[in-house]
Amino acid sequence: MTTTSALLATFPLRDGAGTPLVMLHGFPLDHRMWRAAAEALPEGVRAIGVDLPGQGHSDLGGIPPRLEDVADAVHRTMREQGEGNAVVVGLSLGGYVALALAERHPGFVVGLGLVDTKSTADLDAARANRLRIADAVTQAQTLDPVLSMPGMLLGTTSAEKRRNLFPLLESWIRAQSPAGVAWAQRAMAARPDRTDVLRTFDGPVSVVVGAEDQITPLVEAEHMVHAARDGALTVVPAVGHMSAVEDPASVAAALSLLHRRVAERRTPPRWPW
Ligand code: MLT
Repeated sequence: MTTTSALLATFPLRDGAGTPLVMLHGFPLDHRMWRAAAEALPEGVRAIGVDLPGQGHSDLGGIPPRLEDVADAVHRTMREQGEGNAVVVGLSLGGYVALALAERHPGFVVGLGLVDTKSTADLDAARANRLRIADAVTQAQTLDPVLSMPGMLLGTTSAEKRRNLFPLLESWIRAQSPAGVAWAQRAMAARPDRTDVLRTFDGPVSVVVGAEDQITPLVEAEHMVHAARDGALTVVPAVGHMSAVEDPASVAAALSLLHRRVAERRTPPRWPW
C-alpha cells in the first residue's frame, strides 16, 4: 500500500508491464471489490486499485465532496507514481469518477471501462435520498443506513446461488466510516450529466452491465455505448450491480478486450503492411 498526504492509497492488483488498468471501486466499498476480476486478467496486464477519498485506506484529506476533485486526486496520485496514462475502469461510483477523469485529464485516460454505472445525473428524489442518508450517518455516526445494501447490489441469481457474497460485501461495508459514506453520497449527489464526455472522448470505451442490475440497468449502459465514439457493450448474464464480484471472469474478459483495443490503437502499423 502507498499513502502520502493528499494522495490516495493505491494497491497493485496485478503485476505486468505497460499501460495499467486503474480500477476504481463502487460505493460503499473499496479496492478489494476489484481483486478477483484483476486476478482473472490475462498474464502481463497490469492493474492498480485505488481507494477513493474517505473509503478503505484513503483519508478524506480535505478533499471537497465533488467528483471533479476526486478525479484530480486520482490523477495526481497516478502521476506521482510515474504513470503517464491509464485505462481507467470504474464500477458505479468508480465509473462516475472515471468519466470526470476523462473530462478533466483526457490526455491521461487512453481507454474507459464503465462497469454497472451511468453517465446521467441523479433525479431530484434520488439526490434528496442521498443527502438524507449523508445526514443520518453523520448525525448518528452509524453505518446502519447502508448495511442492507448487499441485497440491492447483488443480483437475484446471486441471492440464490452465491449466498457467500452477502457476508463478504457486508464485511467490506462495515470496514467503511460514516464520514466517508456521507462524503461519497454528497459527492455523487452533486455530479452533473457527463454523457457529453463520451461524445468527445477519443479512446476505446467498454461498457459492462449485469443483466440483473437494478441500480444502473441496461438502458443506462445502452445510453453510454450509443454516445461513445468507439464503444462496445457487454451484458453479463445472471449477475446484478456487482458484476465484477459476482462473475469476475466475465468482467475480466471484457476488460482484457478493452486493454487490447487500446494497445492496437497505440501500436503503429509495421512496414510492410
Ligand atoms: C455504487 O455501487 O457505487 C452505488 O450504487 C452508486 C450509486 O449509488 O449511484
